[in-house]
Amino acid sequence: MKYKKVVILTGAGISAESGLSTFRDSNGLWENHRVEEVATPEAFARDPDLVYRFYNLRRQQLAKVLPNAAHHALARLEREFPGNFLLVSQNVDDLHQRAGSRKLIAMHGELSKARCIQTEEVFDFQGDFSQRAGCQCCRPASKIRPHVVWFGEMPLQMEHIGRALRDADLFVAIGTSGQVYPAAGFVAEANRAGAHSIEINLQSGSGTFAQKRCGLASHLVPRLVDELLKT
Ligand code: APR
Repeated sequence: MKYKKVVILTGAGISAESGLSTFRDSNGLWENHRVEEVATPEAFARDPDLVYRFYNLRRQQLAKVLPNAAHHALARLEREFPGNFLLVSQNVDDLHQRAGSRKLIAMHGELSKARCIQTEEVFDFQGDFSQRAGCQCCRPASKIRPHVVWFGEMPLQMEHIGRALRDADLFVAIGTSGQVYPAAGFVAEANRAGAHSIEINLQSGSGTFAQKRCGLASHLVPRLVDELLKT
């Protein structure tokens, strides 16, 4: 096995072929609101129902889509790769989980979960946010919020991700424009650790990758996984 410690980062582009629009391709608008205006603590404080409506719609979209060949290939790599493996996703959809990925950090949170605003407790939530559902941990129940990292908030499990990047000998970024930090800085950390770095994207991005593979994730990711499991 050529590589022993693999870190993979995915972005919205890996879910594009499942039918979920990416951030930069959908000009970032929703109901004429910029996503950056809705997905923020300030928007939630100002107009929780608007934010609830935004996330309800995204959850309804989620119910209609399926993981694609790229998601399934990464779940296979996790199962069959004998070395250290970590998948870090910026996506809040549950397509990696539904494809079977378990060694996964959803660094921007998960649409399928909610969080108590008092205790920060996280729980699976299938309901309708706008029904003013309450948390399951307080008496009386407190307000809940989507378990999604908003603009201006700290991504999740950054310590764990940093340790994995410093230890990696292979870093692969799939379907991310590399415009939002800290994820956009992961390739530089991996390069500093001496890892080989590969980018899979429709077009060449801005990051300094040792190797860039241009094309559809659903074609290129299964091919990369076959290569990694053969070496
Ligand atoms: N195959 C491979 N790459 C693709 C595909 C595809 N089928 N379709 C789109 N892409 C690429 C685009 O070329 C683009 O570089 O996926 C990338 C998507 O970029 P963004 O829309 O910027 O999404 P992402 O990089 O995940 O955004 C990061 O920004 O808005 C915040 O928190 C949000 O997690 C998000 C973060």
